[in-house]
Amino acid sequence: MRALCWTSGGELTVGQVPDPELRNDHDVIVRVRRSATCGADLSLLAGQTPGLAAGDVLGHEFLGDVIEVGPQVRRHRVGDRVVVCASVACGACWYCRRGLPSCCDNGSTDPIANEAQWGHPVAGCFGQPRAAGGFAGSHAEYVRVPYADVGAFPVPESVGDDRAVFASDAAPTGWLGAEGAEVRPGDVVAVWGAGAVGQLAARAAWLLGAERVIVVDRHPARLLMARQHIGVETIDQRDSDVSAQLREFSGGRGPDVCVEAVGGPAGEHRTLADRFTGRTRVPEAVREAVYACRKGGSVFVLNGAAGHVDAFPVGTVVHKALTVRGGRQHGQRHIPMLLDRMARDELRTEHLATHHFPLERAAEGYALFRDRPDECLRAVFTPH
Ligand SMILES: NC(=O)c1ccc[n+]([C@@H]2O[C@H](COP(=O)([O-])OP(=O)(O)OC[C@H]3O[C@@H](n4cnc5c(N)ncnc54)[C@H](O)[C@@H]3O)[C@@H](O)[C@H]2O)c1
Ligand SMILES: [Zn+2]
Ligand SMILES: [Zn+2]
Repeated sequence: MRALCWTSGGELTVGQVPDPELRNDHDVIVRVRRSATCGADLSLLAGQTPGLAAGDVLGHEFLGDVIEVGPQVRRHRVGDRVVVCASVACGACWYCRRGLPSCCDNGSTDPIANEAQWGHPVAGCFGQPRAAGGFAGSHAEYVRVPYADVGAFPVPESVGDDRAVFASDAAPTGWLGAEGAEVRPGDVVAVWGAGAVGQLAARAAWLLGAERVIVVDRHPARLLMARQHIGVETIDQRDSDVSAQLREFSGGRGPDVCVEAVGGPAGEHRTLADRFTGRTRVPEAVREAVYACRKGGSVFVLNGAAGHVDAFPVGTVVHKALTVRGGRQHGQRHIPMLLDRMARDELRTEHLATHHFPLERAAEGYALFRDRPDECLRAVFTPH
């Protein structure tokens, strides 16, 4: 089959790779209908993620049709249109049973490398290097989906492909940012990043009852989209004192909840050693959020590319009694609820699919997504 592969030179190319096969009894094979770029891919493209190998297939946000089903699969039939959670979890381990599938003990094919990186093994992800799962990605004609009863979900007929595809990753991530930060009715919520994840964190904050939601970014077109489609207020970081403006929006106190959903740290690794230890500067948005947040408020960090950091304002966390949390999305838990909301029109996401490309032009799609963010919010590939 054809797939978008990473090459040893750090380039992307569409080439021939072997067709995926059922490897264990809980797998299904999905014929891809839509597969989208994600901000998390930008550090892969920048060569900042150790362990990518030539020929690795990228992509993790996708939906498609089930074309083959393993003998132990109970919830899927050939022909089902399914959205697949971008991260891979077993559904049966201690963490999965406690509703923390992104902390799954069994989601990675290389738990030892995974544990060396984070201290514990965590869930895998499609289209990532071995340490982060080792599962071939979705920018391809077909994908093997392990633990399919746990990570793949039938899409209601009324929800179109361009809406449903974001239930795979951006929507559950945004939901986690708002829910994990414990947004309460009446809260003022600030979100850094007007990409797909930031916009959907902002939408989740609305749905959880926030009174005011403010999105901060530096791209006017993305901010306009957030105002028009999500109904939030916005701050253009380039011409504002963000903290001062946020105080104005929140009775002089600062937001109750701050969610960081900014893009990957392209260019942030200062030395080769940093690259291999995963050390980055704290994304400046995290620091800004910690300073802007009201005393006793909470900050939620979604940036998956943040490695080990320095210059983190720990003292501010202490003196302002902040709660700082982070997480990877728990789509296995949230996707059915998100699809219901999509079917009820409470969650509309198709505006995020700003550009469609056939798989053959996927490298061009990534270049547009990476280099012209003001124009392209998500490139979506249609392999068939
Ligand atoms: N935790 C998870 O499970 C999970 C899942 C998916 C994506 N992510 C992460 O979410 C983040 C956002 O993803 P996306 O696909 O929306 O990315 P994106 O690249 O499309 O958008 C990120 C936006 O952040 C803005 N930005 C960059 N620096 C900023 C700053 N200092 N202040 C304000 N805005 C800033 C950029 O201008 C851009 O519009 C990425 O870091 C990605 O790794 C996490
Ligand atoms: Zn992603
Ligand atoms: Zn598990």
